[in-house]
Amino acid sequence: MFCGVPCLPDSIIHLLIHYSSTRIHSPTPFSKTPVLITLNDVERIGMGKTLLDEQAKKTMLRKIPHGLYICGVKNEEEVNGFTVSWVMQASFQPPLVVNCVNRNSGSHAMIKASQVFALSILEAGQKELAQKFFKPQQRVGNKFEDVEFYLGETGCPIISSTLGYVECNVVGSIEQGDHTVFVGEVIAAGVHREGDPLLLESTGWNYGG
Ligand SMILES: Cc1cc2nc3c(=O)[nH]c(=O)nc-3n(C[C@H](O)[C@H](O)[C@H](O)COP(=O)(O)O)c2cc1C
Repeated sequence: MFCGVPCLPDSIIHLLIHYSSTRIHSPTPFSKTPVLITLNDVERIGMGKTLLDEQAKKTMLRKIPHGLYICGVKNEEEVNGFTVSWVMQASFQPPLVVNCVNRNSGSHAMIKASQVFALSILEAGQKELAQKFFKPQQRVGNKFEDVEFYLGETGCPIISSTLGYVECNVVGSIEQGDHTVFVGEVIAAGVHREGDPLLLESTGWNYGG
């Protein structure tokens, strides 16, 4: 028998033979009549979905290293900030970063409306600040009440005690899944002081998997 998918293990090919023969040739379930299997068959069955090893996916995705930042956002006169880890540089020229934001958060709506955000880079040891900002504004109210900040060129809040910041105009976005990937062009940046960044790994927290 020829299998149109040369790289599949035997166990999977047998499964597909059962499936295909039941569907195409046999009036009785689980007939073992071999049939040709094509890539179309495989796609229709949804191989990728049924074979995803959830535990392995979670373990490996959690091994992707991340930093921790406070994303400052605004909408008209209102400002807010939240802890974010799914951030990375995405282009040298123009300088771009991607910032992945939960679509259910209040900050998401603010970025969508204003098309700007600022990232304050946390220093190793600023875990408490990260903890303060991962609480939803809707529940805890004004997170900036006892945190020193100033407004950047975009009007977004920047936290004075952090290592520094970049400010971005949103130049694109991808709305797939539960987070929106905002692509931001860096239009301003500043260094407050030298220091090592706070890494998610060092906190014992997880955001991912
Ligand atoms: C360790 C950690 C990392 C996080 N990373 C992200 C992230 O990358 N993107 C995101 O949208 N939310 C992330 N969050 C969740 C937000 O900080 C949280 O939803 C926050 O309440 C949103 O604030 P808001 O409701 O005031 O907008 C993270 C939370 C934790 C604890």
